[in-house]
Amino acid sequence: MVQPQEGARASFLLRADSRARSSLHALRTTLIVNNPAIRSSVAGCLLLLLSLALYLINPVVVISKHATRISEGSEIYKLLNGDIETIHISSYLFNVTNAARFLSGEDRKLKVKEIGPFKYREIRINKDINLDSDNEMLHYTPSTNITLIRELSAADPADVMVTMPNVALLSMSSMMSHKPFWMKIPFNLLTSNEKSQAIINMSAHSYLWGYEEPLIKLGNKFLPGWIFFTQLGLLDRFLDRERPYKLVVSAANHNRFQVMKMNDIAGLTSWGYGEKSSDCNTFSDAYEGLGYPAEMTPSTRVRLFRKMLCRMLDLEYVDTVMTPLGVKALKYQISRDAFDLSEKNACLCPKGDCVKGYYDVSPCFYDLPLAMSQAHFLDGDPSLLERIEGLSPDPKLHGSEVLIEPTCGVALTNTFTMQINVKVDDVTYNNVAKPFANMMVPIAWFKIHEIPPTLRFRAAMTIRGC
Ligand SMILES: *[C@@H]1O[C@H](CO)[C@@H](O)[C@H](O)[C@H]1NC(C)=O
Ligand SMILES: *[C@@H]1O[C@H](CO)[C@@H](O)[C@H](O)[C@H]1NC(C)=O
Ligand SMILES: *[C@@H]1O[C@H](CO)[C@@H](O)[C@H](O)[C@H]1NC(C)=O
Repeated sequence: MVQPQEGARASFLLRADSRARSSLHALRTTLIVNNPAIRSSVAGCLLLLLSLALYLINPVVVISKHATRISEGSEIYKLLNGDIETIHISSYLFNVTNAARFLSGEDRKLKVKEIGPFKYREIRINKDINLDSDNEMLHYTPSTNITLIRELSAADPADVMVTMPNVALLSMSSMMSHKPFWMKIPFNLLTSNEKSQAIINMSAHSYLWGYEEPLIKLGNKFLPGWIFFTQLGLLDRFLDRERPYKLVVSAANHNRFQVMKMNDIAGLTSWGYGEKSSDCNTFSDAYEGLGYPAEMTPSTRVRLFRKMLCRMLDLEYVDTVMTPLGVKALKYQISRDAFDLSEKNACLCPKGDCVKGYYDVSPCFYDLPLAMSQAHFLDGDPSLLERIEGLSPDPKLHGSEVLIEPTCGVALTNTFTMQINVKVDDVTYNNVAKPFANMMVPIAWFKIHEIPPTLRFRAAMTIRGC
């Protein structure tokens, strides 16, 4: 049933931008009226999609027409400030199945078995929304709330026991491996005093969201100013919700939704923006994935940016497809050379010691020696799988898919995977961490599935019902 409030919102949107409405009408006429074959069955779907587009686009258009400062309580403010369900995160952990044999040196390969999914929903609240209409820029501070979707998960992660590499120990010993010998001795004493283990047992929930780790607590003594948290949780660190960031996206027609600035800077200083600016570290053609400009063509350059990615990921055009909604869409995927050691990605490897298939994310994660790849090292160098058993990269399961309705620039699907790995350097000086020396250790991977917000769908339904 149509809620009166949503009806009001939808009609408000329609009223607010008559230009968009007339183009909607024009499209409807061309697509439906002129084509009797699709008139009856697909009409509803088309309308649904087009109104969806309208709903997505309107806030920006409306704001740029009417208000400079969005006052609290106004219709627009409520719209943008509402809870928006943005992504689903399916988490998979690589459970170690030969811990004893690997630690004793009997097995050279670490055997893992993927466990999951544990699926989470991210609700996003955009704070401090402000439109600079002179410059056609929209400012906001995203804040997120994450909850488990139990019915779409394999089990409650709190009930699942896993055997996993100790990320704190592996990261710290790897960082200390570059310090002088006199600093390694107290670190070795610390790990033996704390009876640290290189492979630990705990619930999947604790591993993802945080557990007490004595090494982390004491870490400050060795690496002052390094750690600002007392618990270690993989997903918790990865999403890093304690450090708010401000985003500025374009509200202009030709590059609507393009990310212009993060924290007032037009690039990623972690990768040398400012000192050695290049396309690799500058926000150009970068989108968060919630919306795109209108009138896109296969040659429109699109790069994906999310703070947790720590970089821009080039998308490559694959095909133009007909979606089940009966609407044409441009299909993109994460470019197969996005993880190459090419000139294009040069800023991501300042030391020049990288291997195809992953990139270092330490500058974005408190210098922890973490590396990001696609799930199961898809498109990576085969050497990454040399000491691991249990991974088998498959483009269908571990690849990406971005579908964009080109006329209005509506995001229909946005799916990609990210795997977190610990890059362990020469840690042979530490008896506990030693078995993992010089190894890229896969820990977990996440399938990020961006969803068209349900709010938009509901508004679309309302319009369809008219
Ligand atoms: C993870 O591996 C350990 C050790 O092989 C095993 O005891 C445990 O049952 C596994 N966990 C799951 C959820 O399969
Ligand atoms: C996050 O969502 C949960 C469940 O919906 C809610 O209880 C909690 O108050 C929310 N937290 C924040 C900070 O919004
Ligand atoms: C983890 O659990 C396995 C059995 O499930 C056991 O063999 C192993 O000793 C445990 N490891 C630690 C560090 O407690």
